Amino acid sequence: MQFGYFDDEQREYVITRPDTPLPWINYLGCEEYFGIISNTAGGYSFYKDARLRRLTRYRYNNAPLDSGGRYIYLRDDGFPSNSNGPLFWSPTWQPTRHRLDEYECRHGLGYTAIRSKLAGIESHIRYFVPLGENLEIWELTLTNHRSKPANLSVFSAIEFCLWDAWDDATNFQRNYSIGQVEVLDGVIYHKSEYRERRNHFAYLACSEKLSGFDTQREAFLGAYRGWDSPSAVEAGRMSNSIAYGWQPVGTQHIKLRLNAGEGKKVIFILGYHENPQDEKFDPPDSQTLNKRTVIPIIRRYLQANQVEHAFQALRAYWDRLLEKLQVTTPDGHTNRMVNIWNAYQVMAAFNLSRSASYFESGVGRGIGFRDSNQDLLGCVQLVPERARQRIFDLAATQLPSGGAYHQYQPLTKRGNHEVGSDFNDDPLWLVLSVAAYIKETGDWEVLCEPVPYDNLPGSEEPLYNHLERSIQYTLDRTGPHGLPLIGRADWNDCLNLNCFSDTPGQSFQTTTNKDGKVAESIFIAGLFVLAVDEMAGIARHYQHGREADEFCDAAQEMRTAIWAAGWDGEWFRRAYDDLGHPVGSKECEEGQIFIEPQGICVMAGLGIDDGRAKQALDAVAERLATPHGIVLHQPAYSRYYLHLGEISSYPPGYKENAGIFCHTNPWIIIAETRIDRGDCAYDYYLRINPSVREEISEVHKCEPYVYAQMIAGGDAPTFGEAKNSWLTGTAAWNYVAITQWILGIRPTFEGLEIAPVIPSAWSGFDAVRHYRGVRYVIQVMRKGSGNKVQLEVDGKAIEGTVITPPRAGTKEVQVTVRVA
Ligand code: BGC
Ligand code: NOJ
Repeated sequence: MQFGYFDDEQREYVITRPDTPLPWINYLGCEEYFGIISNTAGGYSFYKDARLRRLTRYRYNNAPLDSGGRYIYLRDDGFPSNSNGPLFWSPTWQPTRHRLDEYECRHGLGYTAIRSKLAGIESHIRYFVPLGENLEIWELTLTNHRSKPANLSVFSAIEFCLWDAWDDATNFQRNYSIGQVEVLDGVIYHKSEYRERRNHFAYLACSEKLSGFDTQREAFLGAYRGWDSPSAVEAGRMSNSIAYGWQPVGTQHIKLRLNAGEGKKVIFILGYHENPQDEKFDPPDSQTLNKRTVIPIIRRYLQANQVEHAFQALRAYWDRLLEKLQVTTPDGHTNRMVNIWNAYQVMAAFNLSRSASYFESGVGRGIGFRDSNQDLLGCVQLVPERARQRIFDLAATQLPSGGAYHQYQPLTKRGNHEVGSDFNDDPLWLVLSVAAYIKETGDWEVLCEPVPYDNLPGSEEPLYNHLERSIQYTLDRTGPHGLPLIGRADWNDCLNLNCFSDTPGQSFQTTTNKDGKVAESIFIAGLFVLAVDEMAGIARHYQHGREADEFCDAAQEMRTAIWAAGWDGEWFRRAYDDLGHPVGSKECEEGQIFIEPQGICVMAGLGIDDGRAKQALDAVAERLATPHGIVLHQPAYSRYYLHLGEISSYPPGYKENAGIFCHTNPWIIIAETRIDRGDCAYDYYLRINPSVREEISEVHKCEPYVYAQMIAGGDAPTFGEAKNSWLTGTAAWNYVAITQWILGIRPTFEGLEIAPVIPSAWSGFDAVRHYRGVRYVIQVMRKGSGNKVQLEVDGKAIEGTVITPPRAGTKEVQVTVRVA
């Protein structure tokens, strides 16, 4: 069952009924100001950091209720008391949930538009954040389709958050007394804590003259009432309340008379603004907000032509980004995901890491070290300059040991002490992201840039040294089998082999009861080989030939350790626990085979020549693959195992306990292409592809236009149900799997490689890829059933699959690819 459809032409997903199985969201903003918006206008906004600079409130544990949002109410002021028509309603359905005659929500790239109609009144609201600005626009267009004039009231409503979202939700003994606002010329300014240490404030402005406003929540709602039935809306009258403490809100009232057939545009702006520390007040010795620099911004965006201009600029921005790679394959799902939604999701994950979604509260997690490094794999080609900066930010939270803070706060860019470090896979991901960045851009200079450790001035070393320390970190921490020690956890955050927690409420991730000298990870071993191979490539180019050889030796030694202790006979083992027993082995009662090492080890090239890679992937197909995707492990853990940690805390089939953790599926997809099984790779690709799953939306439940982190596995009563949509490494890895390995368009240090491993039934495909300033026009033709590639560049056959960069000044290159 579907709740909407894709409009590929417009690059939009169109939701045709408001009661989707869960709120289906979109993101506004792609620079420093962000908003989350659901298909019924729920969500919240923040500047840079969803925890520390939250503009508006949202209620937690709230799916699918979705309360808190950017609300607009319409009131029929001519409503005759004897009629049974509506007195007031939400044109976005929420929060009144009044039945609408028509409803449509279009989630586009960086904007959302919700159109509805009730009793002859049509409303169209377009929400977006102009490029370069710290504000969001709600552009409302009302049209009277009645045959007589309509007298309408329009109300806007948001609830301000007192900046630190965690404190705001918990410290109400203080917060009920600190709220402050100012209202001037119809603009509501929220300035809690501005009188002391803050130099920022929020504002809500409107293009029309106000009939009234309220800034104290209960004055607007009425005591004991909810957002679904505000007393001010019911009465059609505001009380111009000024908030002192309690709950500051921004609510505005305008009155309109629309003649039959007449339309009218009303613009609302919600924004964030900072003043210089010594110009906070105007006059300087007063406590009044200095509004001198914000007023011109407000004036500008209250003009319809400026709004339209900003909207077109936003559309052009996304067109430009997506242009980097456009494909035409025989499969519409592939085209749609590659050309639009997968790339878009990678950017959302890059922007927000795992901080703010409808499954991430925005208060808990900042920028994850491993997460963001993996996001970079999917978006270096889209935003190379920002990727470069992100690499520096991440590397600056690396520690002198080579280890890294697991997370940092985006506002401060400082490592998060609460979570700390010792997730032993973390530093290796930095090597992969830097390698991907260089392969894309050819910017070898990046390796020379000085970057500090732990953000300490004076500790700067070239980025290259950070990478060396990343590798050394693993070498310094090996266990009894010569395999990497796991630390708190590796990629699987819930495989906590040194935790042994029997106390409710303890964090599995940060509690460590063992000295950590025994438990080893075969996943990290595979990742190490992958990273060291990249490092050898980097070292060779960086004129560190001897080091390159040393890296190759280290990789070889690790391979030997993997074959000696990490191979279970038919597949790769997952780990060794603190007692030295294998995890992910036939010897185990539960958790006999795990997906992660099969993916990463084959990606690192292990067993490709001798058939063991094929054996491992056959085992995946036989034991882990389901119609909804590939599960993490089998059998699921049926009880809690003290020595395994959080993984066994989840009921079977959910999350890390044998859920379909979509992030790992592309590793198997890539591995399948490495052993030339294009049909199998593509089959796995389609199983978790959200566009394919659109038609089972009532089962899948999450948005059909983006990947979810997890789909419940076969052990779960709700097999096939997705959760944790949007912010997941699934986006980047699927993008890499489909574009670089199935379609085979792959940047290398030397140039663009084209080596497709496409399904046997495809006749070929076309693609346009912008790479290092050159436009590659690629035509792939299947000439036989295998994957042997013959390239012709501008009509001339070349050796191998890598196209060396053309002569300087070349703008376009024609590539013909024969696959046989
Ligand atoms: C989740 C993981 C996540 C971790 C982050 C766990 O509870 O299951 O998916 O990586 O928390 O802290
Ligand atoms: C989500 C986390 O963000 C990521 O870092 C981790 O690798 C996966 N969960 C698996 O546990």
